Amino acid sequence: MAEMMLKTAIENKTAKVGVIGLGYVGIPLIQAFVKAGFSTMGYDIDQKKVDRLLAGESYIGHISSSWIADCIGSKRFVPTADMRRLAEPDAILICVPTPLSDSRDPDLSYIEATAQQIAAALRPGQLIVLESTTYPGTTRDVVLPILESGGLKVGKDFYLAYSPEREDPGNPNYTASGIPKVVGGIDSDSSELAQALYGQAVVKIVPVANCEVAEACKILENTYRSVNIAMVNELKVLFDRIGIDVWEVIEAAKTKPFGFQAFYPGPGLGGHCIPIDPFYLSWVARKHGLITRFIELAGEINTSMPLYVINRVTEALNEVGKPVRGSKICILGVAYKKDVDDPRESPSFELMELLLARGAVLSYNDPQVPKVPKMRRHKTLDMTSQPLDPVFLASQDCVLIATGHTAYDYDFIVKHSRLIVDTRNATKNVRSGREKIRKA
Ligand SMILES: NC(=O)c1ccc[n+]([C@@H]2O[C@H](COP(=O)([O-])OP(=O)(O)OC[C@H]3O[C@@H](n4cnc5c(N)ncnc54)[C@H](O)[C@@H]3O)[C@@H](O)[C@H]2O)c1
Repeated sequence: MAEMMLKTAIENKTAKVGVIGLGYVGIPLIQAFVKAGFSTMGYDIDQKKVDRLLAGESYIGHISSSWIADCIGSKRFVPTADMRRLAEPDAILICVPTPLSDSRDPDLSYIEATAQQIAAALRPGQLIVLESTTYPGTTRDVVLPILESGGLKVGKDFYLAYSPEREDPGNPNYTASGIPKVVGGIDSDSSELAQALYGQAVVKIVPVANCEVAEACKILENTYRSVNIAMVNELKVLFDRIGIDVWEVIEAAKTKPFGFQAFYPGPGLGGHCIPIDPFYLSWVARKHGLITRFIELAGEINTSMPLYVINRVTEALNEVGKPVRGSKICILGVAYKKDVDDPRESPSFELMELLLARGAVLSYNDPQVPKVPKMRRHKTLDMTSQPLDPVFLASQDCVLIATGHTAYDYDFIVKHSRLIVDTRNATKNVRSGREKIRKA
């Protein structure tokens, strides 16, 4: 009965959709459902975020403030920090963080806290979907018992599914509604309802047998990236030693029309997903007495990249008779990848720490990140972005390109800099002044 009513409400688009966690994943998801014609509610414990949204202000680079203001004005999006209002939506999608603890184990505290908030307001007829990236078994073993603790039963009173988010921030070709969505339910009714819901807002639904397959699918996708990036990072070091340009090799290899996908080396892994999610799987493996050697090795290679880059900077400065200590070094780009404003887990901060430890006179520029945010791991980095004018560039002993933002004018940068270390092959089209460029 409850299931039929919810299904009809989804089909009629009268079902209200709630999203918990109004961050890089939650806001684009709200956008997909609003565009599909649903009324939405957004929940976040961060009152400042809620206030900014209520004031019609976006804090996510690729979501415009005018769109937020429009949805708030028309009440198609109601943000709140009041978790007692979790009984209002018919479907609740959970998009809270899943970081690693200090000992690099999964930190599910955000998911658990959210499940408790939902449990306190849970009413018959609601569909709950976990979207946060996590290890296989989380929805059934962690979320379900909390939701059922108040006496309501899954499959009878409420419904539960897992559907991973596949957001690719900074990629203008894909929005949340344009990316196929994998959906797995705790039971068949939950699966059907979740498929029906996403089917209204997303281009294609990929149903899988259960929550565990959907959870494993997301971790496979991210582990695949981590391992392949590690492989090209390893080859970069080897090819550099024997005088081959790894980027030229990849450009040539990618002309093969089948069986090869290009991955690119860099100064290390960044972002909230690729450096973190594979370790959720290693943790599960350890619990089952197994070791995920690919994941561990990839992690080892990728985390060694900042040190490799610093060695290249040291060599480059050495060539012009300078030590790192006392040299003025400017890092270009602290966002974790090009054209985004998200600096989480960015390898640039590791580069900064390593350079500061070696006595460099450090500065940075990033048009997307005006100030280094407060971070748990890099507490002492308190810097603001410097303007890139000819006088400033000429005053630097070395300019280190860590993030290849499209907005940078690389001809201008090379023209006015004395020495450039490029970790992204961002200067590949620069013709003049190439003798000043070293790749790393
Ligand atoms: N950012 C991405 O590109 C991306 C892509 C795919 C998957 N993911 C996954 O999606 C999940 C969310 O990532 P994100 O990048 O959107 O994180 P985020 O930090 O940008 O946003 C999470 C939000 O959740 C809020 N929050 C935390 N605890 C809460 C609670 N108990 N109740 C309500 N709100 C709470 C935080 O205040 C924050 O605003 C993670 O599991 C991540 O791995 C992220």
